[in-house]
Order: sequence, then structure tokens, then C-alpha cells
Amino acid sequence: MVVRKLAVMLLNCRWVANSLDFNKDYEASVFETTIRVVGGLLSTYDLSGDKIFLEKAKDIADRLLPAWNSPSGIPYNRINLARGGAHNFGWTGGNSILADSGTEQLEFIALSQRTKDPKYQEKVEKVVKELQKTFPADGLLPIYINPRSGTAAYSTITFGAMGDSFYEYLLKVWIQGNKTEAVKHYREMWETSMKGLQSLVRKTTPSSFTYICEKNGNFLSDKMDELACFAPGMLALGSKGYGSGEAEEVLSLAEELAWTCYNFYQLTPTKLAGENYYFHPGQDMNVGTSWNILRPETVESLFYLWRITGNKTYQEWGWNIFQAFEKNSRLETGYVGLKDVNSGIKDNMMQSFFLAETLKYLYLLFSPTSVISLDEWVFNTEAHPLRIVTRGDLHQENVQVDRQQKLPIHFRGRKEGRLGYN
Ligand SMILES: *[C@@H]1O[C@H](CO)[C@@H](O)[C@H](O)[C@H]1NC(C)=O
Ligand SMILES: *[C@@H]1O[C@H](CO)[C@@H](O)[C@H](O)[C@H]1NC(C)=O
Repeated sequence: MVVRKLAVMLLNCRWVANSLDFNKDYEASVFETTIRVVGGLLSTYDLSGDKIFLEKAKDIADRLLPAWNSPSGIPYNRINLARGGAHNFGWTGGNSILADSGTEQLEFIALSQRTKDPKYQEKVEKVVKELQKTFPADGLLPIYINPRSGTAAYSTITFGAMGDSFYEYLLKVWIQGNKTEAVKHYREMWETSMKGLQSLVRKTTPSSFTYICEKNGNFLSDKMDELACFAPGMLALGSKGYGSGEAEEVLSLAEELAWTCYNFYQLTPTKLAGENYYFHPGQDMNVGTSWNILRPETVESLFYLWRITGNKTYQEWGWNIFQAFEKNSRLETGYVGLKDVNSGIKDNMMQSFFLAETLKYLYLLFSPTSVISLDEWVFNTEAHPLRIVTRGDLHQENVQVDRQQKLPIHFRGRKEGRLGYN
């Protein structure tokens, strides 16, 4: 088994070294490329210690970096990997998207720590400093940010699509930096936002499911995306930083929300959740957009709740969701999403996050808690684990990857690695 794993790793190293080429005339999403590719490569570097993955992470991050050259430092959300030329999606009216602009911090900070080059970290930390200047009292930012002024444009406030992982990264940068003074403002901003989250919480009738509304202007809308089901996990993870009393309150909100998210699955004929839900007095909730594209957020939250509470109920819920994927989504060649969770009609796509996130969190839900310990690792929003490295002054930061990684010595730190396997 170990030999097999090492063989697979060796093949991957060779492919990454010889064939992985980012010089592509391709309009990349800065956010998706950061969380999937930069995050995936950095995580593989942290797990293997093989420098080739760090070199490749730097290669693609350098191609993304011009996206931050806007008047405010809020990044443009698209860039051509070969030619540069950063710009925003046409349909945002020229605005940058909150989640797309505020979900590169973990990866770029990790890259600076590991390369000892501060330029990546400086770009992404400036974004948070900029947003902090006009951060509202409830910590809730609309999904569109003007990249010229650095201020919010009138738009929806949500913990679902286009908002979500901005809030997640406020917490996780604080954890990644090992909760030191250098990252304290992230935790403060996060706590402010969690007060805001609580102001969006309502309960259904008759069954008293707790859910998170969206907000337009002063108006709360009784809708929740399955994407927002990452929030119970985030609240559970962050609950540890509060004093007693508040910690229990936040954890208990996390548990209530997880129950709702689990029921997004349980209430459909296939026992798989739709993309979003609407809440009506007297009727609890109804599926809105009814597809399921193998999303991870609910099992992600179950993983955190299991790790943090040790309550086996969360394993049971995760097992039931896994069984529903097995029953509805499994093909001989892989897994596909559903066009409709009511009828069970399949689509024809296996999203990469099914492997990176959904199956990984399910695997970890049934693994000993020492496997990727939350004391040593922080998961990026694509479930790629990055090592926690205590933040102080950048020059004093010392990455211990080479010392801690577990592969045999001949796999380590191969500066000449590209030649080694030919
Ligand atoms: C475990 O979690 C479930 C769901 O949140 C809850 O109903 C139950 O009371 C918990 N059990 C314990 C022992 O805390
Ligand atoms: C984080 O800081 C604590 C207290 O200083 C220390 O004991 C711990 O080892 C640090 N964690 C990591 C992963 O460096």
C-alpha cells in the first residue's frame, strides 16, 4: 500500500515537473485558479516537501499577481495566464466580486512564507486592509466591490454564492497565522461579521429549522444556498476563540444550522440537497433551484462538528449523505450530479471539488482525528490542507516543512528534482 502510494506520487512529481505548463492563452478566474491550483500545489508541497510543487505554485501565482494592480488593490477577477490583462466579468458591471477578491489570502500568505518573498502576501493583505477601512458595523459586505474606489457597490449580502468564503478566510488567516498579534485584526473582523450573521438568522414554522437569510438593502430575503452550509463548520471552528458562554452560543448556532443543512438533503426524494432553498411560514422549506452538483459544504460542516464535539451523530448524517451519493450519482466510471433532486435525473459532469472536497471531508469524517490535525493544519476553501505557520514579522517566519514531512529522505527537497526522474 505504501509502495503503491509512493509510486503514484513519483509519477505525479514527474508529470508536474515535465508536463504541467501554465503558459496558456486562457482567461482564468483568479479565485478558482488560486483555491484549486495554487492551493492544491502548496498543499502537496506541505505534505511531500518536494520543491517542484512550490516552484509550480510560484509559476502560476506570478501569472495571477497582476490582477491585484487596480487603483484600490482590490483584484480584478479574471486574467489571461499567458498574456496578463486583468479585468472583471462583464456581468458584474465592472465590479469585483467579494468572495473572488477575498479568498486568496491563505494561499498567497502561505506562498510568501514558503518562498520568503513577501510580494504575494502584501497584495492579498492589502485587500483586507482596504475593506477594513469601510467595514460596516455589522461586518456584512455586499457581494460587489468597486476596484477603483475599494468600496462596496449596492448589492446583495449573503453567506452563499459570491459572499461565502470571504468570511471563511477572515477566520482561517487568523488560524493559519497561529492566532498571533500579526493576524488579530482578521479575527476581530470575523467576530464582527458573525454578529452580522446572527442578525440574518431566522427560524421556520412549524419545525423550527434555523436558517441564514440573504439581505438586500434593509430587507431580509428568506432564501439560503446550499453553499452557505459551510457556515456551521466555520462557526464551530471559530467557536474555540471565544470566551465561555459566547463559545457555547456560537457552537449551538452551528449545530442548529447543520441540522437544517442535513435536512436540505433528507427532505428530497433522492436525499440529496438542491442548490438553494426558500422558507415560507407554515411550510418550513422548499427546494428552489433543484440541481445537485456534488457540492461539499454540508459534509464539510459535519466534519468540523465531528472533530470539535466528538458527537457521532455527525458521522451518521455524513454516512447517510454518502449513501445517497452512492445510490444516485455513482456510475461505473465516476460520479455525476443530478439535474433534479426530485426526479433523480443525472447530469453528465463530475466537478473537481467532488474529489478535492466532498470525498475528502467524508474520508476525514471517518478517520482518526490525528489525520490532518486541526492543531497543525488549516484547510483552504477547496479543502487543500496548509500547514499552520506562526505569523510574526515575515523575516522571522520559519517554515518547518522540510523537517516535519514524513516521506523517505530521497523524496525530500529535490532542487534538481526535474532531472532526477528522467
Ligand atoms: C449530538 O448532536 C445532535 C445533533 O446536533 C444532538 O441532537 C445531540 O443531543 C448531540 N448529542 C450529545 C450527546 O451532545
Ligand atoms: C502555535 O502557538 C502555540 C503557542 O505559542 C504553540 O505551542 C504551537 O506549537 C503553535 N502551533 C504551530 C502549529 O506552530
